[in-house]
Amino acid sequence: MDLHDFLRRIPKVELHVHLEGSVKASTFVELARKHGVKLPPHDKPEDLYDYPDIYRFLQIYDLVARAVRDRDDFRRITYETLQEAAEHNVRYREMFWSPKVHMDLGVPYDTAIDGIRDGIRDAERDYGIRCKMIAGINRMEPPEKGFEMVKTVIENPRDELIGIGMDYAEADNPPEKFWKAYRLAAQHGLHLTAHASEDAPPRNVETCLDLLGCERIDHGYHVIEDEALTRRCAEEGVVFTVCPISTAWVYFGNNLANHPIKEMARRGLKIMVNCDDPPMFKTNPTKEYIVMAEYMGFSPADFREFVLNGIDGSWLDDPTKRRWRREWAWEIDKLMAQLEKEAG
Ligand code: ADE
Ligand code: ZN
Repeated sequence: MDLHDFLRRIPKVELHVHLEGSVKASTFVELARKHGVKLPPHDKPEDLYDYPDIYRFLQIYDLVARAVRDRDDFRRITYETLQEAAEHNVRYREMFWSPKVHMDLGVPYDTAIDGIRDGIRDAERDYGIRCKMIAGINRMEPPEKGFEMVKTVIENPRDELIGIGMDYAEADNPPEKFWKAYRLAAQHGLHLTAHASEDAPPRNVETCLDLLGCERIDHGYHVIEDEALTRRCAEEGVVFTVCPISTAWVYFGNNLANHPIKEMARRGLKIMVNCDDPPMFKTNPTKEYIVMAEYMGFSPADFREFVLNGIDGSWLDDPTKRRWRREWAWEIDKLMAQLEKEAG
């Protein structure tokens, strides 16, 4: 077993993957053809997944969403991404999706969530992987739309939908815009998270924690620019769901060695590892760990900690968290011993 095998074989939790960003390029092309969605010129399907910044990325993301229309489309894309995740030993995922983008195109909420539910159930039956969903607010739209989305979620409860998040471009769209949507979600027992300081100052992390009541922070890279807030997050054990490859691509000049993630961990922040929009950034769950080893110098013991942070940051019940922490730590220790022995 070499380091790459080790990183593939360790059990994983993922808390930051977007369903619409997880559609394989070939599936995107097939669904676009099925529904008559016009695509930009391309030679191979993979060529469609190429963008210089977050705004262009989001345009393609919306185009993918446009191609997913009926219940079986939602089942298929959910099943396919969970199948791939299971191949990388992801055992549990909390996955974002963007209800409003589909509803605005005339797809009823029920159609989408029930297709997703079919995909989750089929993947669990076939691969044992478990998954819950997080409804994402598009922060580029007016606050009323976010509020409406949360109302729709509450009026159409499903066991698989357990929380809300906030995504799309952060610059000029601060989290306080959505305080009413978050308050409504909290009043109805939904879990809360948000993309924050992905591409904006540390203040957004503070707003998400103290005004919106977020239980964890998605990305959070700029938090380290505020010494006191960083210390506070470390002391309180706030979990940060980091995504090395997608964000190096759109924000940090593709320079993984210079990614703030390394400094976040050095300052004691509780990070865990995710692949954000895997095919859209030509990545997968294991590849994220590999680049963190190769470009940031993290060790097997660090990855053991990041996996356990993922369990802590998840919205699983406490007995399950305690049991998984114990069992997975033991399993990873065994893999670490084997890795050390075989490395000689
Ligand atoms: N939608 C999908 N991935 C995203 C990201 N990393 N940031 C904002 N919105 C997203
Ligand atoms: Zn994201």
